[in-house]
Amino acid sequence: MNQIHLIPQSEPIPAPSEIFIFLEQLFFLIHIVIINSILGVSLIIFYKWNKNQDFFDINKPLVKKIPILFALGINMAIPALLFLQVVFGHLFYTSSILMGTFWILIIPFLIIAYYSSYFHYKKFGVSNYAKLSLFLVILMIFYIAFMFVNNLSMMEMPEKWTSYFSNRKGTILLWSVSSIYPRFSHFIVASLAIGGIVYSLYFRKSSEEKLKEGLKIFAYATIIQIATGFWFFLTLPENIMKKFMGEDLFATSVFLFGVLTAFISVFFSLKGKLKLSLIFLILTLVFMIINRYNLRVFHLGESFNVSQLKILPQWDVFAVFLVIFILGVFVILYMLKISVLKSKRG
Ligand code: HEM
Repeated sequence: MNQIHLIPQSEPIPAPSEIFIFLEQLFFLIHIVIINSILGVSLIIFYKWNKNQDFFDINKPLVKKIPILFALGINMAIPALLFLQVVFGHLFYTSSILMGTFWILIIPFLIIAYYSSYFHYKKFGVSNYAKLSLFLVILMIFYIAFMFVNNLSMMEMPEKWTSYFSNRKGTILLWSVSSIYPRFSHFIVASLAIGGIVYSLYFRKSSEEKLKEGLKIFAYATIIQIATGFWFFLTLPENIMKKFMGEDLFATSVFLFGVLTAFISVFFSLKGKLKLSLIFLILTLVFMIINRYNLRVFHLGESFNVSQLKILPQWDVFAVFLVIFILGVFVILYMLKISVLKSKRG
């Protein structure tokens, strides 16, 4: 069957798609940086685990942040999910159904991960089960991330949907698509890098040695990330690869700037400069988010273009949404301020 016929009709949208795409990508960036921090810090703590009491005393306030980050990371994912559904809903729902059995398991696994992160913090330095619960957090995150990588990729590849005619059990994953593996590795390695930066930031005032250690983790992980990125690049179909190699000037520039800022952030982190590493890391992240969106557009190609969406303006509803949205952002910022002040006091 022709793949175009498999794509459900899209609903009209209430405002220009650019607004939703911008908000989707913005919240995705916030979401993924927080999830990266959780996984990165968890991996570092797991790796450095030792039975020395000092280890527990020094790291307890840091591990206390993991469950808080979890709540924040999931909260920031919800707007990303909502905006994604507005523009790409007809694609995203379809891919979610094709892998439905694995997809639905994300919910119980997320609950297990969240609960385990609390258990880990409460039992840190008290019970031997703390390390096991941290392992569970890491394992659950690996599972969930792998499913997200599959779903977002499958959404972008309607040509893979025909597998449904030979498998209706909701167990379709893209095992045979070679870009899945570097895309997933990209997430894991990014987590180590972000975890390193978070580690540095956290200890910047109390320990010069730990600040340097975090920056080193960031630098090495980012060097590996550059290699992972090129591996990802090489697994892309040739027509898409060419777009990033000059055929599409905007996509090529974003890609090259992203690689350049990544190199610069490595340079500064090896020199022990936290602030500059952070600035170039943020720039890299912004370029990479745009890069990822460009990749989506190229993958979808003729199958779907946002310009096909009908706009039925509902500016009154949009204005109400905007007011509630801005209020929500202020409430979250206020909540963060209170929690930072509280943790500074004790
Ligand atoms: C521990 C839990 C989670 C992990 C490890 C995780 C990881 C990821 C990863 C790796 C991606 C990128 C996939 C790719 O494009 O290759 C992603 C995207 C996304 N995640 Fe999460 N996620 C988690 C929880 C959630 C939850 C609970 C939601 C929804 C409420 C969510 C919503 C999204 C959305 C909407 C995107 C795609 C955004 C876009 O493409 O614009 N995530 N997640």
